[in-house]
Amino acid sequence: MSDIIRYKHIGFLKFAVLLVMIFAVIISVCPVFAQAEESGNELTPVFDTDSIFNDYEKIIYGFDDIESLKADFENPENLPSLIVNGTQISIKDKGNYNVIIFGDADCDGIIDARDAVLAQCFTEGMLTPEKHQEYAADCNHDGKTDKNDVYLMQMSGVFTAEINQKEFYKVPESDTLVVYFSATSTTKTLAEYAAEYLNADIYSITPEVPYSAEDIAYYTNCRADREQSDPTARPQIKDLPLNINSYDTIILGYPIWHSQAPKIVYTFLESFDLTDKTILPFCTSHSSPLGSSAQNLHSAASSANWLAGMRFAAGTSSQTISDWLDENGIEPYQPQPENDRIINITVNGKEFKAELYECAAADEILEMLPMTINMSELNSNEKYYWLSKNLTVNNQRVNYINEGDLMIYSSNCLVLFYDSFSTSYSYTPIGRITDTSGLKNAVGTGSAAVTFSK
Ligand SMILES: Cc1cc2nc3c(=O)[nH]c(=O)nc-3n(C[C@H](O)[C@H](O)[C@H](O)COP(=O)(O)O)c2cc1C
Repeated sequence: MSDIIRYKHIGFLKFAVLLVMIFAVIISVCPVFAQAEESGNELTPVFDTDSIFNDYEKIIYGFDDIESLKADFENPENLPSLIVNGTQISIKDKGNYNVIIFGDADCDGIIDARDAVLAQCFTEGMLTPEKHQEYAADCNHDGKTDKNDVYLMQMSGVFTAEINQKEFYKVPESDTLVVYFSATSTTKTLAEYAAEYLNADIYSITPEVPYSAEDIAYYTNCRADREQSDPTARPQIKDLPLNINSYDTIILGYPIWHSQAPKIVYTFLESFDLTDKTILPFCTSHSSPLGSSAQNLHSAASSANWLAGMRFAAGTSSQTISDWLDENGIEPYQPQPENDRIINITVNGKEFKAELYECAAADEILEMLPMTINMSELNSNEKYYWLSKNLTVNNQRVNYINEGDLMIYSSNCLVLFYDSFSTSYSYTPIGRITDTSGLKNAVGTGSAAVTFSK
């Protein structure tokens, strides 16, 4: 299921969103907030939001970098840059709420869907470890949804919404998104060919107010005619995704309406920061060429990397679409077979299986295999080894370590944990031993000879 689809669910979530919380309250109930302060971590709570956001009935609360935040709060005109997404959501049985989602709520250095989980924190019913299968999200980014995520959420004062966040936050598999608007399904068919060939997620731009047959009876001064001649027209989109950050490439399909893209395509592009995203546009039409339609869209996402577009007639074959994508260097996504990420770890002669997570550092470790190293002992809970090469890390506070976890400390210290404990240190989780029985005995009390192999 795509991110987009998941985001669409947000409009139906049965949850109540937090009223503005002031800093004093937060600090008293959320130890993790206090930790950020104590540790000198640059992430620190937002406060004094009431005065700034008093137009919003409810606010989803998060962190951001304190320096930029301070600057933004001192100069409220800068606030749009702070607001990742302002949207109106509809909560079943509770009406509509104006909501701002902003900030790096889980302090992992990126603002993403997981922050939305934390932002849902202030809803009824505390998470419990027993409930985690149903309700937790992968807050510590270790590739698993487990009790550690629950602890993290609890530490953050998180309460759960009645949603299946596990499904909601499944990591997208492809970095390409096919986006299309289609009033009579011609463009839709070609967009589906593209998504199928690329193994990509697909999102249909759906108007808040659907276009009836009369609305698109062109040259009758119909709704579509009027919108196309009105430079300010921006038809609203139903269930606009909260963000599309996880995609690098967008294939954008639309019908030609009076030689241009329909105005709702502008609405879509203007709803996101598409900086550095690659956009490959295509259109369908009765007879008009692509013309200036794609070029004119550039202004709606001027920091994107736009590729030249293409016009296709109705009935274009799927082969033509695949060939066109190939010509533009857009490659189909090929999921890695799962067992490619299962490795063998032999510790002082005893064999274990480990799964490596889908992250750059784990990929780099995979490239180094087979590897035999002498891992040093530390603190009666870990064996570590400084690799000669720095890895592409994404260090984050993991809060809790499980026996069998494999992590990178700093940028090149490979750590195998053989006990479980809470920690305030930051690591990049790269994998875990799946069955840890016998691990403690195998590692012994001193340094250990460990072989990692595929
Ligand atoms: C309001 C409107 C304006 C249109 N203007 C043009 C046009 O300027 N040139 C053209 O060749 N086709 C035009 N068409 C036809 C559509 O571009 C064409 O049927 C397209 O393939 C429909 O795609 P869809 O089925 O995905 O909506 C127009 C259609 C509508 C509804």
